[in-house]
Amino acid sequence: MNTMTTTKTPTTVLDANGVTMRFGGLTAVRDVDLTVNTGEIVGLIGPNGAGKTTFFNCLTGLYVPTEGKVSYKGTVLPPKPHLVTQAGIARTFQNIRLFANMSVLENVLVGRHTRTKEGLWSALLRLPGFTKAENASRERAMELLEFIGLADKADHLARNLPYGDQRKLEIARALASDPGLLLLDEPTAGMNPQETRVTEELIFAIRDQGIAVLVIEHDMRFIFNLCDRVAVLVQGEKLVEGTPDIVQSDERVVAAYLGTPFEGAPGAEEAAEVEAAEASTAKATAATDADSNTSTSTEEEDTR
Ligand SMILES: Nc1ncnc2c1ncn2[C@@H]1O[C@H](COP(=O)(O)OP(=O)(O)OP(=O)(O)O)[C@@H](O)[C@H]1O
Ligand SMILES: [Mg+2]
Repeated sequence: MNTMTTTKTPTTVLDANGVTMRFGGLTAVRDVDLTVNTGEIVGLIGPNGAGKTTFFNCLTGLYVPTEGKVSYKGTVLPPKPHLVTQAGIARTFQNIRLFANMSVLENVLVGRHTRTKEGLWSALLRLPGFTKAENASRERAMELLEFIGLADKADHLARNLPYGDQRKLEIARALASDPGLLLLDEPTAGMNPQETRVTEELIFAIRDQGIAVLVIEHDMRFIFNLCDRVAVLVQGEKLVEGTPDIVQSDERVVAAYLGTPFEGAPGAEEAAEVEAAEASTAKATAATDADSNTSTSTEEEDTR
């Protein structure tokens, strides 16, 4: 099945506009714009603590952004996770969130839940409509397990799966909600190179099914190989966005990863202020120490 549109002008699937997320005094995401178009795989990279997961949480309604709005296929999304899933955005989590004591198949069926119309009474009374819907759900869930390569482990408990398979199962569960956009938060974390390559192929196959993908990863080889476009977050701000070639050759990106200061770096002004404050505190402390030097060293000796 290939539902990818072949129109020349791409349609915007995701449009995040001016997204800001503050936690008290900390601005984790600052005024970030990002779009993802039909047929695209877009990467989101940045050093640890840059705000990548927080941005995902803002897109999926887990956090209500302090400012900004998120639209999916032209409609502004209410910041409620179940409504976002219903609209067509699915995600996986940086820290795997599976139902450990449920089977692999059951985990996928949970993901299917948003797409089944049968209600609670129908399920409890096992009405004919429910049985039919349940059979269809199981069929679709098995199809997905086949697609990601876990069909032979459908009856295994999720907690008994190797780590790499658990990450894949999370993807299958996300796909079960029939999304138009899939958000992946570090899908290859903890995987060996072979598993990473398989995941790369899997994501290409997902894209080929007409699902746009936004992916966070620290593995640069993986990101630059996979993505049509890459955005770089540094200290909550979007520093650069472009093709893998453009991003790789941008000196500011290298500097941000190495922690080297550069002109106009996000957070540079705040960092300079903190540095100046620290320097003046250190100076004041040194002066006080000099004044009470003799007594301090005596106290230290006494306590030994
Ligand atoms: N719920 C929260 N409350 C307070 N601060 C938070 C919360 N969630 C995230 N932060 C802070 O926001 C900043 C960005 O964190 P985030 O997890 O989004 O970074 P990240 O880019 O995903 O990092 P990593 O690559 O390590 O996963 C960090 O300083 C973090 O401590
Ligand atoms: Mg993260």
